[in-house]
Amino acid sequence: MPVPIIVDCDPGHDDALAIMLAAGDPAVDLLAITTVAGNQTLAKTTLNARRVCTVAGITDVPIAAGCTKPLVQALSVADDVHGPSGLDGPRFPEPTVDVVAEHAVDLMHRILTGHPEPVTLVPTGPLTNIALLLTRHPDAASRIREIVLMGGSTERGNRTPAAEFNVQADPEAADIVFRSGVQVTMCGLNVTHQALATADVVARFEALDTDLGRICAELLTFFASTYRRLWGFRAPPLHDPVAVARVIDPTIVHCVDANVVVELNGRYTRGATVVDLHQYTGRPVNAQVALTLDTGPFWDRMVAAVTSLGARPSR
Ligand code: RIB
Ligand code: CA
Repeated sequence: MPVPIIVDCDPGHDDALAIMLAAGDPAVDLLAITTVAGNQTLAKTTLNARRVCTVAGITDVPIAAGCTKPLVQALSVADDVHGPSGLDGPRFPEPTVDVVAEHAVDLMHRILTGHPEPVTLVPTGPLTNIALLLTRHPDAASRIREIVLMGGSTERGNRTPAAEFNVQADPEAADIVFRSGVQVTMCGLNVTHQALATADVVARFEALDTDLGRICAELLTFFASTYRRLWGFRAPPLHDPVAVARVIDPTIVHCVDANVVVELNGRYTRGATVVDLHQYTGRPVNAQVALTLDTGPFWDRMVAAVTSLGARPSR
């Protein structure tokens, strides 16, 4: 039976591929897409979610916009990484898929309390919407199967030397999630940097010879230019689909139990995830932490999802 999931995202190039993986892989049932400010403003991340769903022919999944800014600190977008649109590279047609009127948090709550079985939340942006859901609707926690998030790192950061973008963007929200008592799986930079979209991967999307395959190749080509310029990467890490892959087939993403806390007060380390992989602190396990990605099956699943979506007529 497919696992029911909700993707909460800030598209974003890698969020775009995560949406496609979630919609195109039969192992999961994408119940909703919710958007949050992060890589870009909420208006832009929501427009980008609509664009992705339009070109991928994802017309039966509700899209709801969420929070416009982090819980406490100011919004700081990633123009340098994803471009002014948040999804630079391809030219997108005018979106034909719209948003629903409900706030993301209300849509998540309605789905969680109405669905016959617990639902897995897959946040791939700042955790603002998820934190607000847990705070505003405490009854929702019992209806969440688990939270499998892209964020944090067992090592260095990518927004500051210590902090990864999604957690650093809203540390208070991340702290609420890791302290919530809900089963959390953290897919941090240490594992997502194994998901390198090499030239061979891009060629697999181009070889599909479909509009959607070409759009994916163009997204990855832009992303590659960013990662080369900013970090000297030979290929861009496709962060967000790793979290979706963990739900699709847990054997693709190997995890260990650990305690994770979010640094809120460090003068130089605010937003860092402090991951106790060796039980130094005695703090209880509160998360599964991803360490290793099986890249073969990961890319096979990613390409297969785009293949199946690409076969659909885009509206
Ligand atoms: O640090 C990588 C994360 O930040 C990804 O989710 C990317 O989309 C950005 O949101
Ligand atoms: Ca993201």
